[in-house]
Amino acid sequence: MKRVSLTQYLVEEQRLNNSIPAELRLLIEVVARACKTISHAVGKGALGEVLGTAGSENVQGEVQKKLDILSNEILLEANEWGGHLAAMASEEMESIHPIPNRYPMGEYMLLFDPLDGSSNIDVNVSIGTIFSVLKAPDGMGTPTEQDFLQPGSKQVAAGYAVYGPQTVLVLTTGNGVNCFTLDREMGSWVLTQRGMQIPADTKEFAINASNSRHWYPPVTRYVDEMLAGETGPRAKNFNMRWIASMVADVHRILNRGGIFMYPADQREPDKAGKLRLMYEANPMSFLVEQAGGAATNGKQRMLDIQPTGLHQRVAVFLGSKNEVERVTSYHQE
Ligand code: AHG
Ligand code: MN
Ligand code: MN
Repeated sequence: MKRVSLTQYLVEEQRLNNSIPAELRLLIEVVARACKTISHAVGKGALGEVLGTAGSENVQGEVQKKLDILSNEILLEANEWGGHLAAMASEEMESIHPIPNRYPMGEYMLLFDPLDGSSNIDVNVSIGTIFSVLKAPDGMGTPTEQDFLQPGSKQVAAGYAVYGPQTVLVLTTGNGVNCFTLDREMGSWVLTQRGMQIPADTKEFAINASNSRHWYPPVTRYVDEMLAGETGPRAKNFNMRWIASMVADVHRILNRGGIFMYPADQREPDKAGKLRLMYEANPMSFLVEQAGGAATNGKQRMLDIQPTGLHQRVAVFLGSKNEVERVTSYHQE
């Protein structure tokens, strides 16, 4: 089998489809390199002294793990000097990170969830990194938070890495979704799946059922109907999976279909769900749509949401198209 590396894939994409400007190509390669470094740290586990908590909290009041902070630093350092970025923003940093003056400023802006699935770090279950790329608005001076507040439809690239039994990188630049596997011995990303497609129908759903008593009626109805199985209104049996790492749940859905849900619930009516629009929901929704799936917040297309804050949270329904449309329609009834 002829191996196609990430670099070769990007160069060919640039040449043939003209979809990837040179600066964006560099950006993606740098992010991929950072993910390789994170993967290496994750793989060391206790031997690398990377497990456990860091003793601090992030802007959302969540306890930070050592790997949350380390991964954030790896991504910042890798992306600062290349000249491809104007600024970065991260789930783990309260404010945006403009590129220091000593480096040239580029026209892209990078957002990331440096380490997704933090609760799984110490128990050796798949975790990952999620990233999203926006273009700096025309005529932007010193970057501000406002410059980042663009709807997900404006993303020019998005992707995630999963640090699991295999380390994979899944990427879209708006021209389909491709998967690269890290060859750990060679240290290179090799194209292993082209044009990933999510089947429109599925018999598998993912939701944290421990919150069911707090759900709003449309979610309860939708899940109850699936749980009723063959003799219920859906007339088929469904299976359930919940990994508690969005990257791993989404990766399963990109491979064999399914619907992933993290709804808003009645515990905190002012809080629109748990997941973050800019670092999790938007990049994943871009990938899912590019693979033929759908993504909403229960009411509208995720990628159409006009963000109002960098760390804004959102309800998430994404995956197999017919299922996402069904649960979204239940919200409209
Ligand atoms: P993070 O580790 O970046 O904070 O994200 C964790 C997210 C997401 O990956 C996962 O789907 C969800 O939180 C799990 O939440 P529960 O612990 O409520 O199941
Ligand atoms: Mn996350
Ligand atoms: Mn995280």
